[in-house]
Amino acid sequence: MTTKNILVTGGAGFIGSNFINYILPVREDYFIINLDKLTYAGNLENLKPSQDKKNYTFVKGDICNHELVDYLFKKYSIKYVINFAAESHVDRSILGSEVFYQTNVIGTNVLLETAKKHGVEKFLQISTDEVYGSLGPEGLFTEATPLSPNSPYSSSKAAADMMALAFHHTYGLPAVVTRCSNNYGPLQFPEKLIPLMIINALNDKNLPVYGDGMNVRDWIYVIDHNKAVELAFENGIPGGVYNIGAGREMKNIEIVRLVLKKLGKGEELIEYVKDRPGHDRRYAINSSKIRNELGWKPAFDFEDAIEHTIDWYLENRNWWEKIISGAYKNYYEIQYGNRLIRN
Ligand code: NAD
Ligand code: DAU
Repeated sequence: MTTKNILVTGGAGFIGSNFINYILPVREDYFIINLDKLTYAGNLENLKPSQDKKNYTFVKGDICNHELVDYLFKKYSIKYVINFAAESHVDRSILGSEVFYQTNVIGTNVLLETAKKHGVEKFLQISTDEVYGSLGPEGLFTEATPLSPNSPYSSSKAAADMMALAFHHTYGLPAVVTRCSNNYGPLQFPEKLIPLMIINALNDKNLPVYGDGMNVRDWIYVIDHNKAVELAFENGIPGGVYNIGAGREMKNIEIVRLVLKKLGKGEELIEYVKDRPGHDRRYAINSSKIRNELGWKPAFDFEDAIEHTIDWYLENRNWWEKIISGAYKNYYEIQYGNRLIRN
């Protein structure tokens, strides 16, 4: 068996940790070096199922640190990269964009330059459907949809996508880009819509719904995303882009009502608040390319997976109570304090 030494970045965050915990038991041919800066969103507790595995190691560090990244490529003879590391939250990018361009653009550039130098055999850039901008009531994003990012976050991700594809075009770097829709599942940081609504409801706090609550997102269970990541990593054509989505469009207010219903809480907790500046109206993904070319399809039913997710937050209070009683409180106050008033 030939071992693949894979640098996985951002593996202590929501999707990256779910990826590592999912993949290590099924791929004994992978040796994963997880490079993560452990920002507010990184949490080593997420990796408990993986931390003692012999085909896994963790390095605390910044993808922007060229020297460190080069050292790791040499030390572990890295030939594969999966770049999950990013500043990922749109609202935070609206409060302050600098760190988004630093990590998502400069950090990705450091990884690409180092990957080029060391002759990597596959570089998977984990991107987002948000690079396409916003849809009206009809239509779906395809891989041919022009990029039109609207937030500092999505513009930084679009820049990273373009860099990865340019490194393929110019230097022949075997880069592949995946663009996935909104993920949900265990271990998601409570700033994101679904865990925030679950936790606020459990604490009998108001559920802040932006604008009219009619914005649409296309929801996918995190393990379905990560199965697509595995396929794109193994079989994606260099220079290719693959959209990933489960075709489950929901209005935000529908998600919020569903959470309240499952928790047996009343709708009086819903609070309509000032809209997110530049709020994209609708995302919806056409994922026929990855389905037809790589044989991917989502395995999880939305109703089952959202129930499992809610149960996970009910059963893992310790995980999120530590988070919401720490530095997250300051962010929450800034984001949802006096600045957000009723419409
Ligand atoms: P997250 O915020 O939960 O985790 C990000 C991780 O990256 C954290 O562990 C953090 O410590 C690490 N990180 C941040 N800056 C770093 C740096 N400079 N160097 C090293 N590590 C650093 O994010 P997520 O929701 O798990 O998203 C992972 C990736 O998937 C991102 O690239 C995001 O753009 C993309 N994505 C997310 C979604 C979603 O719904 N969450 C959907 C599509 C794509
Ligand atoms: O589409 C993929 C993207 O999905 C990823 O690239 C991003 O990393 C990820 O954060 C997510 O971005 P969104 O902005 O869509 O996710 P968020 O959970 O922040 O918000 C989902 C929707 O819910 C959005 O329309 C805004 C709304 N919302 C969000 C929060 C946090 C509210 O109404 N109230 C809230 O408190």
